[in-house]
Amino acid sequence: MRMRNKYRKPTTLHCNAGTRCSMSIVVWSLVGFLLMLHLYTLISHTNVQSKEIRSGLSHHPLFRELEEVEEENIQMPPPRRRSPRAAKRKPKRPTTLIDEFLDESSQLRHIFFPTIKTAVDPTKDAGNDSFYYYPGRIWLDTEGNPIQAHGGGILYDEKSKTYYWYGEYKDGPTYHAHKKGAARVDVIGVGCYSSKDLWTWKNEGIVLPAEENNETHDLHKSNVLERPKVIYNDKTRKYVMWMHIDDANYTKASVGIAVSDSPTGPFDYLYSKRPHGFDSRDMTIFKDNDGVAYLVYSSDDNSELHIGPLDGDYLDVTNVVRRILVGQHREAPALFKHGGTYYMITSGCTGWAPNEALAHAAESIMGPWETMGNPCIGGNKVYRLTTFFAQSTFVLPLPGLPGSFIFMADRWNPADLRDSRYVWLPLMVGGAADQPLDYSFGFPLWSRVSIYWHKRWRLPAELSGKKI
Ligand code: DGJ
Repeated sequence: MRMRNKYRKPTTLHCNAGTRCSMSIVVWSLVGFLLMLHLYTLISHTNVQSKEIRSGLSHHPLFRELEEVEEENIQMPPPRRRSPRAAKRKPKRPTTLIDEFLDESSQLRHIFFPTIKTAVDPTKDAGNDSFYYYPGRIWLDTEGNPIQAHGGGILYDEKSKTYYWYGEYKDGPTYHAHKKGAARVDVIGVGCYSSKDLWTWKNEGIVLPAEENNETHDLHKSNVLERPKVIYNDKTRKYVMWMHIDDANYTKASVGIAVSDSPTGPFDYLYSKRPHGFDSRDMTIFKDNDGVAYLVYSSDDNSELHIGPLDGDYLDVTNVVRRILVGQHREAPALFKHGGTYYMITSGCTGWAPNEALAHAAESIMGPWETMGNPCIGGNKVYRLTTFFAQSTFVLPLPGLPGSFIFMADRWNPADLRDSRYVWLPLMVGGAADQPLDYSFGFPLWSRVSIYWHKRWRLPAELSGKKI
């Protein structure tokens, strides 16, 4: 039996000519018209944008080279011989490239951790081969020692027109404080290196040293000091360092703050705290064009990130904070800005083991932040799913080249953390492959963020300030 719905609204319309027009046709025509209008505006906007981006980049032939997709074809070693008994007990699953990476005795070790013989040595005149970055190779400072600046970040000092690279100085033995604890190196301090060309780095020493004796001090060698970042405060004329401070079990989950009159220190350690009262592990700071600086940190047991502005002298947070990427379990945040849009690269949470990077974007730094997808291009599938066997730490804008950045990452070596390597790669926003990463109702939302794998690459000569 057909039931009449007495609440149903009439859906037909009587027209003058005596025809009956369907209300839905009218509504859908209107929706269609609005959609077409929206599409038209978006397309013309995107065209203008991509033209702008292309005209900004394509004049430099080197960008084409940096954006070339470079593949890696790694032959897996034959399976190792096992006794018939062992094979029967536990049939061996095929080894993956990630297993090989994590296996210290792997025959492929040299691919991920090339020996000292291949070290990048800026003091040697390599002729035409100078200024090349070789992601994963040992990188020597001007005294011939491997650079110790892990989990680091770079400050460009306007006064001295010099780049300063700060990071964890990890030149000590790796051990486990507890059976199930993460591999660690006792705190030695924050290392600082200076450079004019982003390739030749002079060791400026340990600008924030560990505390040897006082066991209650945050910087006591038995604790954890990770991911130091430095920004300059134009008002107070101080260099301010923020870092992750923890105990060996990662339960203190705090930030530490230190300050100096000079980029090369010494930095005075001020205090540590749980920002906004929340646990804080991997973190970074970001100084916006208007001079306001922000702290970003993994919180709620790494399940989400928090972001909030610092106060005027950058020595504390304010009480403003937003939860972002809630439930996404991201760490290792590296924030940057291009054309009024904020971007961030993060990693997943797998200790020292590599995992997939994601790019995020936001119109306002305080959010909402949207996740765009994996920005890694080239290498091979495993390279892309492991951020080229590395973890984000910082994204450095290249002056005078809008939309181009250096992506800085750590290739951790959990068996010997001091021997962790640096993976620096070109990161482009928009550019030749200006394919947006994310679509909403079929409409592109954000410009693509791309990190290009290269076995070796170098900056345009104008940037390094030297003839190449
Ligand atoms: C991953 C973090 O990103 C690193 O900084 C470090 O804290 C390790 N976890 C420790 O396992």
